[in-house]
Amino acid sequence: MKESLDYYNAEVEKMTLDYLNGNSRIESAIREFGSFIKPSSTSILDIGCGIGWSSHEFAKTFPSTKIYGIDLSPRLIEKAKTLFWRNNLEYHCVDITEDFSFDSKFDAVSLIDVYEHIPFHSREEFHARIKLFLNDGSRVLLACPSKFHQNWLRKHKTEGLQPVDEDVDFKTIQKLSSDINCEVIFFSYKKIWRAYDYFYAVLERRPQYGSEPEITLQSPIVLESQAERYKRLGIPYSKKNREFKGYYMLKRLKTIFR
Ligand SMILES: C[S@@+](CC[C@H](N)C(=O)[O-])C[C@H]1O[C@@H](n2cnc3c(N)ncnc32)[C@H](O)[C@@H]1O
Repeated sequence: MKESLDYYNAEVEKMTLDYLNGNSRIESAIREFGSFIKPSSTSILDIGCGIGWSSHEFAKTFPSTKIYGIDLSPRLIEKAKTLFWRNNLEYHCVDITEDFSFDSKFDAVSLIDVYEHIPFHSREEFHARIKLFLNDGSRVLLACPSKFHQNWLRKHKTEGLQPVDEDVDFKTIQKLSSDINCEVIFFSYKKIWRAYDYFYAVLERRPQYGSEPEITLQSPIVLESQAERYKRLGIPYSKKNREFKGYYMLKRLKTIFR
């Protein structure tokens, strides 16, 4: 896990740059998850929250819901605490491959690009823990790269792979669902950059026959605008700064965060 810890600790500027410039992978997942989070939810666990962007968008959209953002990396959690602060939001540094627990149960558990980073041999233990966090009606929301995308990365862009990057497919999701006593209520491939590169899955503990589905066609999540993102980071929203993308902005963020 040391390799993963070092890797993700070093990702803080890159994740902040994704937030600043926008990243269709994350934005699409946050919006899509918004369609599946029940408005009646009292608590959401956002696993692998990184710098806290998704946790913050959930907290902003559902102000009466308590959001818990957790991540392996202390550096990312520290950044989340300073960047995205709200009354209904708290962050914790947690390694999900180790023993961890919460006093409360959750109406929704979100994993945006995280499940593939759980080593194959740790999956069963992880399932056993997640199982304890769910009530009847709780949902587990997953966004993952498809095995097609992982294979493409292995062949053409190995630098796009992270220290632990396993294949996840429908069978994996079915196994998770059965282990945590849920039903797969939604599974769909999604095109982010290439056809079939990502998929979204939603699992629900004891879906109630005949109940209102609480799946909205239009997500209630309206992401922060780019001007708001610049403001949050204390960077002037000037034309020059907006043109200052990629490598140069990354260098700039490294200076700001030093
Ligand atoms: C690909 S990033 C995704 C971050 C964010 N959800 C997003 O979509 O941008 C994977 C995240 O999972 C976290 N992570 C990886 N392994 C973990 C573990 N064992 N326990 C907790 N978090 C972990 C990383 O620190 C990182 O923030």
